[in-house]
Amino acid sequence: MEVITNSTKETKDLAERLAKDIKPGVTLALYGDLGSGKTTFTRFLVEALGSDARVQSPTFVVARKYKNINHIDLYRLTTKEEVRDIGIEEFLSDKEGINIIEWPELAEEFLPKDTVRIYFEYVDDEKRKIRIQDIN
Ligand SMILES: Nc1ncnc2c1ncn2[C@@H]1O[C@H](COP(=O)(O)OP(=O)(O)OP(=O)(O)O)[C@@H](O)[C@H]1O
Ligand SMILES: [Mg+2]
Repeated sequence: MEVITNSTKETKDLAERLAKDIKPGVTLALYGDLGSGKTTFTRFLVEALGSDARVQSPTFVVARKYKNINHIDLYRLTTKEEVRDIGIEEFLSDKEGINIIEWPELAEEFLPKDTVRIYFEYVDDEKRKIRIQDIN
């Protein structure tokens, strides 16, 4: 599925729709450039999944936990070994948890087969193109 969201509000609506299809144990890999909307989407998704925590970019800590949701941001890492060292395999083997990974490229070999990949693209100030790989 590919949509253009014309505002953050529309990105919120999309996250709310996706939240309905999310099951425990799923991994979402969020691809896209700086500012393309990965963290914004994550914030709306975490809210829609019932956490009232304020999602922040986990840039300096790599991973944050909101209830059963692990929000992981690999932007600052440079090697697969570092990705392994943060415990990516433990996160991904948690069958109760939902894993959301920004900048997942270095984690590619660790991602489960049924990972849902979501691609974000900047279109203009208010618009983003968001492509969600088939969730089933
Ligand atoms: N349609 C839209 N959908 C999502 N975000 C939007 C939209 N229009 C504007 N924005 C703005 O774009 C910015 C996206 O920033 P965000 O931190 O979510 O990006 P990111 O992909 O996580 O970047 P990074 O790689 O630095 O972590 C926010 O300031 C948000 O308000
Ligand atoms: Mg981000």
